[in-house]
Amino acid sequence: MLPRMYTDLAHLWPLISDPSNYAEEAAFWREVVRKKLGPGRHHVLELGVGGGNNLSHLTADFDATAVDLSEGMLAHSRKLNPGVEHHVGDMRTVRMGRTFNAVLIHDAISYLISEDDIRATMETATAHLESGGVFVGAPDFFRETFTDSKICHDRASDGKIELTHIEYTYDPDPADTTYETVMFYLIREGKRLTVEQESHLFGLFSVDRWLSLMEEAGFDAETAEYPVHEDGHPGYLLVGVKR
Ligand SMILES: C[S@@+](CC[C@H](N)C(=O)[O-])C[C@H]1O[C@@H](n2cnc3c(N)ncnc32)[C@H](O)[C@@H]1O
Repeated sequence: MLPRMYTDLAHLWPLISDPSNYAEEAAFWREVVRKKLGPGRHHVLELGVGGGNNLSHLTADFDATAVDLSEGMLAHSRKLNPGVEHHVGDMRTVRMGRTFNAVLIHDAISYLISEDDIRATMETATAHLESGGVFVGAPDFFRETFTDSKICHDRASDGKIELTHIEYTYDPDPADTTYETVMFYLIREGKRLTVEQESHLFGLFSVDRWLSLMEEAGFDAETAEYPVHEDGHPGYLLVGVKR
């Protein structure tokens, strides 16, 4: 089941995340695609595109097709990325019936919580690439980089709604492959304050486990440095070239 952030609360997304904050991250994605594929207006498929914030910094360089499970989130991305073809689909099962030069999965890849989820998603990626095609993914955390008991908060307003968004991230059971982020939304509209909460479950795997599962799926797999996290924890892009 999709989290509320992407269903009944999806209208709050522009107050949770602003496209301008993705320029630095997107530069790493552009660079890795260019490094592997060379110059040219390559066609990328982004799975789990969300609001299309990261993608909005790549469309000047590449053609793009985008997939997400959430209609509400696709609506934001359609607005931000009018030249991109958008489709509803699950990254574990979607089949577009054509191939692309690269398959990208930004932070949405963090929602893969089991090795079977990862295997299915890697199959989706290989099904949409020719030999030499590139896969890039960026889980928020790896087992090695996870920091337990982390709080983030932010406030934004569009003049009508003021949203205070608080996140608490922790790992209730370090023996399994998941961690949890509890989200609180304080939604202030005029004189009315509504408080909503929910929990997101994310996958937690070591860098080596990711690379092994990518190799198993038919990629030559490696990491690239991705020093973009606000709290300073190390980040890596997972990069695979289809054999
Ligand atoms: C944090 S948002 C992505 C934001 C995006 N990186 C951006 O730049 O705007 C995560 C997205 O992953 C999507 N998602 C989660 N699981 C998915 C799945 N199995 N298949 C497709 N999309 C999925 C959610 O619907 C949500 O839109």
